[in-house]
Amino acid sequence: MQLATKFLGIKLENPLVLASGILGTTGASLASVAKSGAGAVTSKSVWLQRHPGHRNPTVLNLGGGNLINAVGLPHGGIEEARIEFANFRKLSQKPLFASIAASNLKEFGETAAAVAELKPDLIELNISCPNVASEFGQPFACSVNDAAAAVKIVKKQIGKIPLAVKLSPNVASIAEIARSVEAAGADAITAINTVGPGMVIDIETAAPILANKFGGLSGPAIRPLAVKAIFEIFQAVKIPIIGVGGVASGRDAIEFLEAGATLVGIGSAAKDGPEIFAEITREIAKFCERKKIKKVADLIGLAHRI
Ligand SMILES: Cc1cc2nc3c(=O)[nH]c(=O)nc-3n(C[C@H](O)[C@H](O)[C@H](O)COP(=O)(O)O)c2cc1C
Repeated sequence: MQLATKFLGIKLENPLVLASGILGTTGASLASVAKSGAGAVTSKSVWLQRHPGHRNPTVLNLGGGNLINAVGLPHGGIEEARIEFANFRKLSQKPLFASIAASNLKEFGETAAAVAELKPDLIELNISCPNVASEFGQPFACSVNDAAAAVKIVKKQIGKIPLAVKLSPNVASIAEIARSVEAAGADAITAINTVGPGMVIDIETAAPILANKFGGLSGPAIRPLAVKAIFEIFQAVKIPIIGVGGVASGRDAIEFLEAGATLVGIGSAAKDGPEIFAEITREIAKFCERKKIKKVADLIGLAHRI
């Protein structure tokens, strides 16, 4: 059976992608994930200037593979990205997706232009992080107009590099936002970013555990929200989807493909090591063989027949 797939003309040896923010800061760690079996890797969100992120503690393990985090998009800035992307290219031939973040529209345009010079295979526009609201206000992905404006500005700067827009589940209708970014020129949609934000309190000290107080939820608990988001987006738009949110097994990845994702992102489940990519790939192949499915791409959107 054929695990290889294509996304906007980019060839991948399987549909699994490292999601942004996990193991994605250095070229070496991105390359180690690629070597361990990911079809493509996504960098940590790149800022134009150094962005410090939040104070520790920033990540709390909630059990069952679930996390709450408010790392606050720390990044060293474009010069760091230049070095780390070049390191990755020396170590791996696999596709590199560059996630970008910014605090306002003008900066999104400038960051996109600078990152485009590094020639990633795809740019992923992160307009949906729920953990920087204290710094920048409501994420752009929570408004049809703001989301579309960000896409238009970025598209002008990146030439032929395809653009995926990462959406937030923390909205009344993710399908409506998906339609708006498609109309603004997005080539693909990544869904979903973390859920919430939520909060955890240390009951002994009656103090919030995260220094930022609030943080986004990820891991298996959010998977049904991601499946529904993918399912609704698939019906709303024609552009392809990178499904992300709680995938930890072959069964979960297949569920995303059947809901309508072309690629499947893995974040929290990769935190203990990149071996998960090879395991999930094997599980997908086994499933397809049992079901006599010849190509992994034949799974895309199957849940819509009913
Ligand atoms: C510690 C941590 C850091 C993250 N950093 C980023 C980031 O820099 N950019 C981004 O677009 N998403 C970031 N995310 C969100 C993930 O890419 C993903 O959308 C989300 O965690 C849901 O997928 P998962 O359940 O597989 O982790 C981060 C998530 C976690 C847990």
